[in-house]
Amino acid sequence: MKSPINPKNIVWFLPTFVKTLLVLDLLLAKCEPAVAADEKIVGGQEAPKNGYPSVVPLNIWGYHECAATIIHQEWLLSAAHCLSYNAEVESFSFMAGEHNLQLKEDTEQNVTAIQMLRHTKFNLSTYENDIVLFKITPPLKFNKYVQKALLPDPDFNPVGISTPVGWGKTDNSSRSQVLMEVDIPIITNEKCKEVYKDKIFDTKICAMEEDGGKDSCNRDSGGPLYFKKDGKQILVGITSHGNGCGLKGWPGVYTRVSKFLQWMKETSGVDFTADGPAPPGSKPGKSGIRKIFMNLAESVCNQHQKYKQTQKIPKPVRKKPGSSIKAGYLAWKTCPSSACNPFKFLQS
Ligand SMILES: *[C@@H]1O[C@H](CO)[C@@H](O)[C@H](O)[C@H]1NC(C)=O
Ligand SMILES: *[C@@H]1O[C@H](CO)[C@@H](O)[C@H](O)[C@H]1NC(C)=O
Ligand SMILES: *[C@@H]1O[C@H](CO)[C@@H](O)[C@H](O)[C@H]1NC(C)=O
Repeated sequence: MKSPINPKNIVWFLPTFVKTLLVLDLLLAKCEPAVAADEKIVGGQEAPKNGYPSVVPLNIWGYHECAATIIHQEWLLSAAHCLSYNAEVESFSFMAGEHNLQLKEDTEQNVTAIQMLRHTKFNLSTYENDIVLFKITPPLKFNKYVQKALLPDPDFNPVGISTPVGWGKTDNSSRSQVLMEVDIPIITNEKCKEVYKDKIFDTKICAMEEDGGKDSCNRDSGGPLYFKKDGKQILVGITSHGNGCGLKGWPGVYTRVSKFLQWMKETSGVDFTADGPAPPGSKPGKSGIRKIFMNLAESVCNQHQKYKQTQKIPKPVRKKPGSSIKAGYLAWKTCPSSACNPFKFLQS
């Protein structure tokens, strides 16, 4: 399809047969560096320092691999493909209030994932439903550097200039240390289908500069595509995939957030469009019992997932399995499939 695959992150820990399985993934993903050396956040510029307080870098085992967007004090939105081969919840952390990845900034809030809800119908060959919700701890403290994004209305169909942001690759094959932004026109899905054919669904949204040269790129995956309306940034997309970065005639493809509002609500039990954040630690409401049950079943299923993971993919050397295998095995033995299914942890 294009340039050589050039694994530079955790993928190189894996044996060859696992890498082979990942190749399909790498070809499409903007999370992984299937890139030529000259690819970058094409045509972008450094973002103003607190211009995008809802975007955060997503780190896996402490390594920056993707991005995510704050939608609540305890919830982030990202791309499902960012965890297609690494599904251990404790490996994900996020640095809110980040601008320069290299510097320790006093605006930073480091949070860890405690739950992840990947779309069960995420399709690795088409990137349909490339969306995941992370629940994080501790809850974020909102201020001018750390804020939730505004969600679109369900029927919002943005037309005009959109802005992906992220810490993706820059010139000369080094990735950006500072948050970058770039303005790109949204194009119609019909136009997008001309090149990506049956990989474009109405749950996706595409953006392309006519002459090329402007795009999101590798490691921007999972991060936001914003659209400015009445002076407010609305989160209209999640960076998902594309052929190369900024190649003339090849749009960047994003998950269309407005199509997933219902999924987000049903999956998490949280209404993210409600005004204001839920106070952290607030008592469970009407659906409290259900939530407690969900949490219980979820932790069992996470253990199960962890068990499956340790069986399938050798771990990065930094991480020892420890006694969790035994716990995971026990959880798996007792995992009621009826409890697991609603949360779809066991998909794939
Ligand atoms: C953020 O927290 C995670 C999980 O506790 C940890 O692995 C990581 O090193 C922390 N990052 C920084 C920069 O402190
Ligand atoms: C993914 O999509 C392709 C193309 O539509 C389809 O053939 C395949 O069965 C899908 N895979 C899953 C797991 O749904
Ligand atoms: C990329 O590398 C070339 C040659 O090494 C250098 O002249 C140029 O300034 C570099 N560009 C950036 C953005 O670092």
